[in-house]
Amino acid sequence: MTATLKDRALNRVFVTLLTLTAVALASGSLAAQTPAIASPEVTFTKEVAPILQQHCQECHRPNAIAPMSLQTFEEVRPFAKAIKERTSARMMPPWFIDPNVGINKFKNYGGLTDDEIATIAKWVDAGAPRGNPADMPPPAKFDDDIWHIGTPELVAAMPADLAVTANGPDMWRNIVVDPGLTEDRYIKAVEIKPTKGRRVIHHMGTTLLYPDGGSATMQSKNANIFEDGSGRLMKAGTKVVFQLHVHPYREDTSTNVEIGFKFYPKGYVPKYVAQTELMGDDHELDLPANSDNVRYDSYKILTVPTRILAYAPHMHTRAKAQCLEAILPEKSEQRDGNKVETLSCINHFDFNWMMVYEYATDAQPLLPVGTVLHLINWYNNTGSNRLNNDPDNWIGYGQRSIDDMAMAWMTFYNLSQKDFEQQVAERKAKLKEMESSSRSDAPNVAASRAEVPKVTASKVTQ
Ligand code: HEC
Repeated sequence: MTATLKDRALNRVFVTLLTLTAVALASGSLAAQTPAIASPEVTFTKEVAPILQQHCQECHRPNAIAPMSLQTFEEVRPFAKAIKERTSARMMPPWFIDPNVGINKFKNYGGLTDDEIATIAKWVDAGAPRGNPADMPPPAKFDDDIWHIGTPELVAAMPADLAVTANGPDMWRNIVVDPGLTEDRYIKAVEIKPTKGRRVIHHMGTTLLYPDGGSATMQSKNANIFEDGSGRLMKAGTKVVFQLHVHPYREDTSTNVEIGFKFYPKGYVPKYVAQTELMGDDHELDLPANSDNVRYDSYKILTVPTRILAYAPHMHTRAKAQCLEAILPEKSEQRDGNKVETLSCINHFDFNWMMVYEYATDAQPLLPVGTVLHLINWYNNTGSNRLNNDPDNWIGYGQRSIDDMAMAWMTFYNLSQKDFEQQVAERKAKLKEMESSSRSDAPNVAASRAEVPKVTASKVTQ
């Protein structure tokens, strides 16, 4: 088949655009790499060790969850190639938000910047040299035993240690604890931490089980401190469910976890009360055997103005990606249709890493009443998915991990119309200020009503 002249002309335009973008990107990264030209060698002690301290050692050190320690040159060197592979593919550290799409400002940001990834790759390509031992930064300190929220008022632990036999299969456990709360209180801060056998805890989450049967899943890893005037309700009689994903180690290990709460003073009711709800009706999920890129969409209409605090995708082993977008009630200026803002995309979902992505305060989406939250989920039900043990099977919705889901836990505040308008106005004023204070530095902000700051790849920030 021969392309018509018009086709070729179109192709040429398209290619030119691509090339221009490529040139723009290349010059951007050249600028970023200028310092490296002055000192061409990237070394472990000077450039790489600080990155590993900041982004890897929390898990990659003795008695932590990762399979190997990445502290000294001797420990890291044998893994150099694997480190380049995993970081370039954005599989390590575990943080699966696509930095080029939607919001890229998070309170618990856990990814590497493009520059950090490039530094690691350069170091590996140069033969992973040690460098000058005198450049080695002092060892990073990790405070496993302290409460980062300060001394909690209420602490609940698992009633008995969980025994984890050496080399067994992975286990998922839900352990219900009654912390003995006798009156309603608002949580100001909460933290969950392992007290024993940290080594085997691959993942831990917690859910509050309210006496009326409702529940709220909470931030899983770090300390979670609410801003003044906002909090989460813990009703009298609320139980805590510890959800543990345990990955056995070479030795028999017993493990335990504690959760600590700090409350607002008795009787104080914060203006904004965080809620966490599942979104998405996924009961019609239909994943034919041996099929890839199967798409499923689920929706939620916001009946009040809403400020989104956190997004936690929830799918199972066949899942490969998920995007969350907001279809806004107002019309697009450019086209006949509604405005749509992509909030976040997970471009390689990994069932073994159930993540909670907490938006930074000034990036929390402010969504008007009538917004439709839209989840787009993609699946790979073929043998090329390493977690798929039976690609010849049809898969549908279900609770078991061999079934699948198409959901997300959303944490949000409901706002009055007046508060919503005020918060949008404050956001706009702040963005304007940022833009004018340093034009070149300001994130490229879409000044739309949804107020979703867009950060380009070259400006990945914390
Ligand atoms: C939140 C904890 C955590 C963080 C942070 C983390 N890792 Fe990991 N890493 C793990 C765990 C657990 C595994 C084993 C399971 C897996 O592969 O997902 C692993 C596996 C790996 C592997 C594969 C090991 C092998 O046997 O081939 C590499 C390489 C790696 N990590 C490098 C890194 C680097 C480099 C960083 C920082 C830039 C990092 N990780 C940050 C927890 C973490």
